[in-house]
Order: sequence, then C-alpha cells, then structure tokens
Amino acid sequence: MTPGAAWRVADRFAPFGATIFAEMTRLAIEHDAINLGQGFPDFDGPSFIGGAAREAIEAGPNQYVRTGGHPKLAEAIATFWNQQTGESIDPLGEVTINSGATEALAAAMLGLVNPGDEVVLFEPFYDSYRACVAMAGATPRFVPLRPDATTGKFVFDEAELRAAFTDRTKLVLVNTPHNPTGKVFTRDELTLIGSLCEQHHCIALCDEVYERLTFDDALPHVRMATLPGMRERTLTISSLGKTYSYTGWKIGWAIGPEDLTAGIRAAHQFIVFSVPGALQLGAAAALTSPEGEQSVRDLVAQYAEGREFLCDALESIGLDVFRPDGTYFVMADFARTFGDRFEDDVAFCRHLTGEVKVAAIPPSAFYEHPEMGRHLVRFAFCKRPETLRAAADRLRSLRS
Ligand SMILES: Cc1ncc(COP(=O)(O)O)c(C=O)c1O
Repeated sequence: MTPGAAWRVADRFAPFGATIFAEMTRLAIEHDAINLGQGFPDFDGPSFIGGAAREAIEAGPNQYVRTGGHPKLAEAIATFWNQQTGESIDPLGEVTINSGATEALAAAMLGLVNPGDEVVLFEPFYDSYRACVAMAGATPRFVPLRPDATTGKFVFDEAELRAAFTDRTKLVLVNTPHNPTGKVFTRDELTLIGSLCEQHHCIALCDEVYERLTFDDALPHVRMATLPGMRERTLTISSLGKTYSYTGWKIGWAIGPEDLTAGIRAAHQFIVFSVPGALQLGAAAALTSPEGEQSVRDLVAQYAEGREFLCDALESIGLDVFRPDGTYFVMADFARTFGDRFEDDVAFCRHLTGEVKVAAIPPSAFYEHPEMGRHLVRFAFCKRPETLRAAADRLRSLRS
C-alpha cells in the first residue's frame, strides 16, 4: 500500500459497488420522490407482532440466544412447514434462524460451496446472489429468464439450463416467486431443475421469501423440497419481512436436512452467531397466532389490488407490463414508448426519480449481462393504496 493512498475495497467486492437499492433510495430521499424502488412496505405489519417483541424485551431474553435460533421460533417455523408439506421436521436440527434471508443465503453459500465449485443462477437475480457466489470463491453459471412472446411470462430455455450444469456444479439457486420478474416457477420447471440436481449431485438452494405472495390460484407456490427425491438436497430459505411487513427486523430462516443445516450453521455462527431473541419471539407470535394468518390473507388481498392498479396505470402511460404472478414487484418494458428519449434503464430511472418524482429500480443491476435489462424498469407495489394513487398521478406526466 502506498503511504497516504486511500484504502481499497477488497478485490472480491470491487465489481459490485453500492447496492442499487441504497443508491435509488438515497436519490428518492434527495428528490422527495415516492419510493416504488426498494421493496419495503410504507406501513408497518400487525401491531400484535411488535407487542410480542416488546413483551419479550421486558421479560427477556436480552442476552445471546442459541446460535441455531430461539427454540420457540424454530418450533413455530417447523410447525408451519409441517402443516404445509405433511412432513415432520426436527425444529432444533433442521431449522436455523438467520439475520434475514440475506444472511441465510450468504451463510449457505459460504458454508456449503468451495472455491472452484460452480453455482447456477437464473438471470435476472436478486443482487446479493452474485456477491455471495464471489464471497465463496465459486464460479457462477447463468441461465437467462426471458419474456415469452405470447404469454408475456418469463421462462428459461431447457437447453440453456442443461448446459449450465457441469460436473463442477455444487448448487443451483432457485428464487420462487422470483424477484424481479414476479415469476412463479411451475411444478414442471422445478421438476426439471430438480432432476438436474439429482443427475449432477448438487444442492438446490431455494429462496422462497415471497412464498405467501402469489396472485393466481392456478399457479400456486410449489416448494422444491417437496418434489420426489429433493428433500435431501434442498435448503429452503424464507423470512418474516415480506409476509408480515417487518422487513427491518431482518428475521430469516433456513430449513433443510441436518447435513445441509450443518453447512449453513458453520458459517452463521461466525457471521452473526445469533439473532436478537426478542425479535425472534415477535416472529414466533406472527407464525403461531390466528391473527397472523388473517393478516397474511389481508395483505395478499391488498397486494393483489395494488398489482392491478399499478399494472393498469403503467400500461396507460405506454409501458409494456409483465403482470407478476407473485412477489410485490412488477417489471415493465419502456422501449416502445420512451426508448427514443432514454438511452437505458438507468437514465430512465434517474429521470423518473429526479423529474417525475417516482423512484423505481433499473433492472440491469440484476443481470450479469446488463444489456438484457436495459429497456426494463421495476416498480414495487408493497405500498398503501394512496401512495400508489399519488405515484400513478405523477407518472401520467411522463406522457406530456
Ligand atoms: C429474492 C429476495 N431474497 C432475499 C431478500 C432479503 O430478505 P431479508 O430482508 O429477509 O434479508 C429479498 C429482499 O428484497 C429478496 O427480494
């Protein structure tokens, strides 16, 4: 190091810079824009969840809790999982509580993947995946998701998927429902991915944080872990944030057989060791109370309306909208109407945030090959109806 020169970020992070969410949220604040960029609700989740955490702060635990997670939350997660899958998992041996799904994903990658291994990612991907692969010293292989010309749904090509698997593949990361496309992977698609996992003896790391947020009864969320032969090789990650509107608590979890759990815990114990006990007890209340279940139903109904409203509003200003089947995001293509005014998605989103005063995310940040996303824009509809109405009013000015 030359004396006096600034310290440099380690090489492994150099390609990633600041996350696009932080940048767009900063811009949104600077321009007083309505933030349809980063995916967090502009309202808090049910107050009984906060109340349960407050009680736990009064009564304890306020010291470090068990590294694998507070037994009450592990129990609540296992009970919910068992109800959904008909299985009978061991809460202490097969559930790990993490600092959000983000830490669960990083710990899984660090704890299970060796330098030189290959990891299959679908592109576009949630931005932390690429950095997690780099942290593990692994090599990513990309499978593009592209909009089907007739259905408008994002799909992958079977030959491209097959070609991404090699004898070095250790893990495939499957995010369903999928951010940013809103795709819900079908049973057939998951079965194909699962069969490749079996064939190549690799792990399926499934990010299911939007598991409850689906909008089409004909296209329900399917858990990879429940497909024949997949339980032994699947680690399923989810979190409190999206389902109960407590994103800032960063309570996430990973469910999987003991050997995969041992991998994630090997890293988790040295990253955070454990997660705040009182917040874990708040999360346990969310999962175990009938009020919690009703709140999820209400939230899905609210988001289904928000989805319709925002998709219609975006179409009315000339965007080609890919109606999502899940998550709380919608992707749209601006090229047909605005392609001649804006060079790419970053220019379009800067204009939206700075001039129209509605912040959105430029999806090229979710691609290894940014040109695939340069005509796209992602909006979040996890907002109050009045926020979406105000955003739609502002967006209309784009046409003038
Ligand atoms: C696909 C996906 N995975 C993980 C996360 C992070 O979840 P958490 O806030 O629980 O860390 C997000 C948040 O936006 C996400 O969209």
